[in-house]
Amino acid sequence: MNTNSTINDLQIISLPRIEDRRGNLSVIEKDIIPFEFKRVYYLYDVPGGAERGGHAHKNLQQFLIALSGSFEVVLHDGKDEKTVTLNIPNKGLLLPKGIWRELKNFSSGAVCLVIASEVYLEDDYIRDFDEFVKFKMV
Ligand code: TYD
Repeated sequence: MNTNSTINDLQIISLPRIEDRRGNLSVIEKDIIPFEFKRVYYLYDVPGGAERGGHAHKNLQQFLIALSGSFEVVLHDGKDEKTVTLNIPNKGLLLPKGIWRELKNFSSGAVCLVIASEVYLEDDYIRDFDEFVKFKMV
């Protein structure tokens, strides 16, 4: 299992943006993100001040997009921390496995789309930060 991902492995990926007077269109298709996706979910109706995330994944990779509004993603690799703001519907954050994430400061009406490389599996989560730091030291 590869546990040595760091915040330097995070990538912002731009999606194609097809501009039109009637509104813009962006597309996520295979080859744009470097994994085959098995699941899509989204966070919405996030109350002011709420925080999501607060975990890492042992194996799952994700691609996060602010479809609407904005939010911050605080990322930790066991040593270093970095905060990324997502607020552009055609730019997403590629999150490798083994990165702790917290999502906060959601704007009113923000929608976070998550494209995931695996089906939902609770066993893939590390929900305790100290356990995560130990996992990264293995
Ligand atoms: P979680 O992944 O902890 O949410 P977030 O990281 O966005 O704060 O999931 C919250 C709850 O939803 C948890 O009880 C598991 C459940 N859940 C599913 O049943 N299926 C899914 O695909 C996801 C992502 C979560």
